[in-house]
Amino acid sequence: MILKKRISINKIKKKKKIVCLTAYTKPIAEIADKFADILLVGDSLGPVLYGFDSTREVDLKLMINHAKAVVRSTQNSLIVVDMPYGTYEFSREKAYDNAKQIIDSTGADAVKVEGGIEIINNIKFLIKKRINVMGHIGMLPQKMGKMETPKIYGKKDSEKKKINYDLQVLESSGVFAIVIEATSSKVVDEALKNIKIPTIGIGASNKCRGQILVTEDLLGLTTFNAKFLKKFTNLSKKINTALKKYSKEIKSGQFPDKTNMYK
Ligand code: KIV
Repeated sequence: MILKKRISINKIKKKKKIVCLTAYTKPIAEIADKFADILLVGDSLGPVLYGFDSTREVDLKLMINHAKAVVRSTQNSLIVVDMPYGTYEFSREKAYDNAKQIIDSTGADAVKVEGGIEIINNIKFLIKKRINVMGHIGMLPQKMGKMETPKIYGKKDSEKKKINYDLQVLESSGVFAIVIEATSSKVVDEALKNIKIPTIGIGASNKCRGQILVTEDLLGLTTFNAKFLKKFTNLSKKINTALKKYSKEIKSGQFPDKTNMYK
């Protein structure tokens, strides 16, 4: 078996357009690995796969188990794992222990953390200890309360200033890329003028070098809706049709037939 080498962070930094997707499981990761530069094992898996009310309910063990499945099922994309709420904000030593546990036990390439200046010392400590870090600013799901509707970030003057400042401090800290979520595109475009490292937009701007969506959302497997979400297909409808047919065929005796049975 020929094992292909994963794309490096240096190669990603040089790319004009960066394709990012989330992946939590083997079936999705195997397919997404053919198309993505970066696969994010996002803590959105809490609401998407487990029906949690918020990403805050996700813990380290859950992230590690899903990250192991994704790393095992892929060979091309760079694998980034979200650090769950409460595992990196409060102490730099704890942040390092948890990040190291994620990287060492899964074989993933990098971790992602939510926040800018307020966690910059912890981010710098991770980078000093040779952990690759992706930043995440703008609307931050881990900061939202249960069932809270996301608000577009960057409308207030204080938020405009914070986006600019956070991009700059994150870039100088050494993060290799920054996700910007649900933020006014005008504000992002202005702030990007001084930024050289890749930014990955989700409801941010088409001037970001990369884009990311939750794979289950773009496939139409979830009921999530937002202006930034384009549904590229409707898998829920397709699954519904297939399962209806399956049920009908069992009831009518059409399935299984002789092609599905052993002699
Ligand atoms: O958890 C996640 O999936 C994310 C992306 C939506 C950026 O953070």
